[in-house]
Amino acid sequence: MNSSSKVAIVTGASQGIGAGVVQAFRDRGYRVIANSRSIKPSNDPDVLAIAGDIGERAVAERVVAEGLAKFGRIDTLVNNAGIFVAKPFTQYSAEDYASVLSVNVAGFFHVTQLALAEMEKQGSGHVVTVTTSLVDHAIDGVPSVLASLSKGGLNAATKSLAIEYAKRGIRVNAVSPGIIKTPLHAPETHEWLAALHPVARMGEIADVVQAIVYLDGAGFVTGEILHVDGGQSAGH
Ligand SMILES: NC(=O)c1ccc[n+]([C@@H]2O[C@H](COP(=O)([O-])OP(=O)(O)OC[C@H]3O[C@@H](n4cnc5c(N)ncnc54)[C@H](OP(=O)(O)O)[C@@H]3O)[C@@H](O)[C@H]2O)c1
Repeated sequence: MNSSSKVAIVTGASQGIGAGVVQAFRDRGYRVIANSRSIKPSNDPDVLAIAGDIGERAVAERVVAEGLAKFGRIDTLVNNAGIFVAKPFTQYSAEDYASVLSVNVAGFFHVTQLALAEMEKQGSGHVVTVTTSLVDHAIDGVPSVLASLSKGGLNAATKSLAIEYAKRGIRVNAVSPGIIKTPLHAPETHEWLAALHPVARMGEIADVVQAIVYLDGAGFVTGEILHVDGGQSAGH
């Protein structure tokens, strides 16, 4: 093992954007701690899979502690785990509210707090969180207040943490996607979803992965909410 190669934590790593991020970091020589509830052990010795609900503090503790025990350092945290429940506001149940807040907000808070404490000891690090452009640009026909409530908080927390940690060698950024072609969206919805973007297409997983990789190497960029949304947040 080369203990000088970088280490990234990726949450929500079993499929979709998270699986793409794991592959991109591995392609660049990072070792990866990959979390999701259903994630399976990897054949790759440089991928440590830790199964569990990232909304639970005990799971976040395992991700950081077992990652450190195996790889010895944490350079990057990608807060990607998230769920999306689109409903008219008055139809949201108390369970919808609790589960979205648990994954999207508690799933950010616990692991970010624990990873930042390690980055602070190292004097370097980068946190990047996947949010959504629905925060800036709500779409008629896609009622989704819980996405805006939770991810809007993550955008604000990104800027706040970027300033709090700016002098300690730690950068904090977010990527704000439009609608991305992942297992989240059934193929029969793709045409309608493509039309919601000024560029008239859905995003690809690679579009979001590229932005995360860019931010990870962009030493002068912090507190940035990088929109990867085909122009959605700019207007229609
Ligand atoms: N796809 C889009 O159009 C879109 C647009 C804007 C923003 N985003 C954001 O991008 C991120 C990734 O989305 P995606 O489209 O790749 O979604 P996805 O295909 O549904 O994947 C979600 C991932 O999160 C994991 N996950 C769900 N609940 C979890 C929990 N409690 N603890 C740990 N892992 C959990 C899932 O694995 P398990 O089931 O194994 O836990 C899966 O690996 C999310 O934050 C989402 O809000 C997506």
